[in-house]
This record gives sequence, structure tokens and C-alpha cells, in this order.
Amino acid sequence: MLSLFTAIAAFASTSLAVKPIHSHNDYTRAVPLWTALNLSIMSVEADVWWQSNQLFVAHTSDEIDKTKTLNSLYLANILGIINGTVSSITPISVSNPLQLLIDFKSDGPTTFQPVLDALQPLRAAGHLTAYANGKLTQGAVTVVGTGNTPLASVVASNPRDVFFDADIRQLYSTKPGIGLEWGPEISPLASVDYASVSSTAQMQELVLNAHDFGIRSRFWDTASSVSTWDMFWSAGSDWVNADDVLGASNAWAVFDS
Ligand SMILES: *[C@@H]1O[C@H](CO)[C@@H](O)[C@H](O)[C@H]1NC(C)=O
Ligand SMILES: *[C@@H]1O[C@H](CO)[C@@H](O)[C@H](O)[C@H]1NC(C)=O
Repeated sequence: MLSLFTAIAAFASTSLAVKPIHSHNDYTRAVPLWTALNLSIMSVEADVWWQSNQLFVAHTSDEIDKTKTLNSLYLANILGIINGTVSSITPISVSNPLQLLIDFKSDGPTTFQPVLDALQPLRAAGHLTAYANGKLTQGAVTVVGTGNTPLASVVASNPRDVFFDADIRQLYSTKPGIGLEWGPEISPLASVDYASVSSTAQMQELVLNAHDFGIRSRFWDTASSVSTWDMFWSAGSDWVNADDVLGASNAWAVFDS
């Protein structure tokens, strides 16, 4: 248990120093990645399809545009920003890390290895948050798999540098594997469809549950309004889902003042 608590303590010490906003379906923004980064929003999400030996970024398989891959929209730019060959008004670094949510839309077990392979340049350069030998090390980029991401593959990875978006309702009632507990070394993030949460009080309870495990919270399928964002921030929820990132950013500036 000691190594688990050490890992949690290390993670908790890097508290959310950035805007608690997540750019939901980030690839639909006018300019993917940069729209969020220019607002200092350090969590972005891409829906990914493994097809024709490529990882395409699209909401549905009908919308696949062959020029838009996980690498072309995100990974190459992220590596370039970190290594200084691509300019960004907001840096990506260990002290200002980016959370990249990869929403597996195609079959989970089939898509997992291609995602690991695509991350190799970032991994080789030491930029990925990773869990190995009982130790969680913060990198400039934390990759969290959601959607069809297979939990068993995440748990079996060594080093583990694709993490798992847990179901925030089930942290106390399930285990991630035999002899394992939920924690940031498996799930830095836990989420749920807000439509399945019955009340603001239940949402607040879920946020606290996640924090008990050293895990950050996110609710999706939420209304795009100042009162909604304020409700989540008031509850201490971490990555508040936003489709209107400029609106959410402006609302946060008011809320935080
Ligand atoms: C981000 O900011 C840079 C520098 O001000 C600017 O050149 C660029 O157009 C901006 N991009 C977006 C998508 O806002
Ligand atoms: C920096 O990142 C770019 C990707 O944008 C990559 O092509 C290049 O090899 C990297 N350079 C170094 C020195 O890591």
C-alpha cells in the first residue's frame, strides 16, 4: 500500500494549477488544440477511429477526413510545442501539463496497440506521464483513454502511459483488477454522463468520492451555460466540460475573481 499512497501524494501535490476546463470534442473547434491552448485550457479530447492502419480523428466513421489523424492534429504539434519547434503562447511542460483524452470510438482491444505506437515519439522523448515500478511520474502530457478504452489493457501496460477514464459512480463499488484499488496511477480522471446523475447533491458526492481516491472528476453531456459551469466549479469539480471554450474561459475568470 505504501507505494500506492506515495503515488497519490505525488500526484496530489501537482494540484490543478490551470483553468478547470476541459475542451470537449476539441477537434471540432475552429482550430483544434490551439483554440484551447490560447485560452490556457490544458485538457483536450479527440475521438479516434482505427481504420486502414491509421488513427483518424472524427465523431463518426462517416465523418472521417483522411487528412485528420491523431498525429497530424495533436501528437506532432504537442511534441513540437514541448520541444520548442512549434510556437504556442501557452507552453506544455511538466509544470504546465496537458491532459489528452483519447476517446476510442473503434473496437477497444484492436485500437489500443495503435494508440501506444502513435505515442512512441512522445514516450521516447520522456514526455508522457507514466506509472512504472510502483511510481507515478508526471510528464508534460497525460494521456487518458475513454470510450471503448479497454481497462484490462491499461492495467496490464508496463510502463503504463495510457490511463483509464473510470466511471465516477463505481469507484467504491468496483475494483480495477484483482488486488487493485482505483487511483491516479490507473485513472487520473473519472467521469460520467451528467444525465445519469440525479441531483446536484449526488454530483457533489461523486466529486468528493473521486477526490478520496486522488482522482479528478468530469461530467459530460452538460448544458453550455455560465450557471452550469459555476455549479460544477462550486462543487469543486475539476475538469468542467466545455464546448464553448471561450464562454467557459470568460465565466471562469469571473468565478475565480
Ligand atoms: C493563438 O494565438 C496566436 C498568438 O497570439 C495567434 O497567432 C493564433 O492565431 C491564435 N490561434 C487561435 C486558434 O486562437
Ligand atoms: C520536435 O518535434 C517535432 C514534431 O513537431 C519532431 O518532428 C522533431 O523531431 C522534434 N525534435 C526533437 C529534437 O525532438
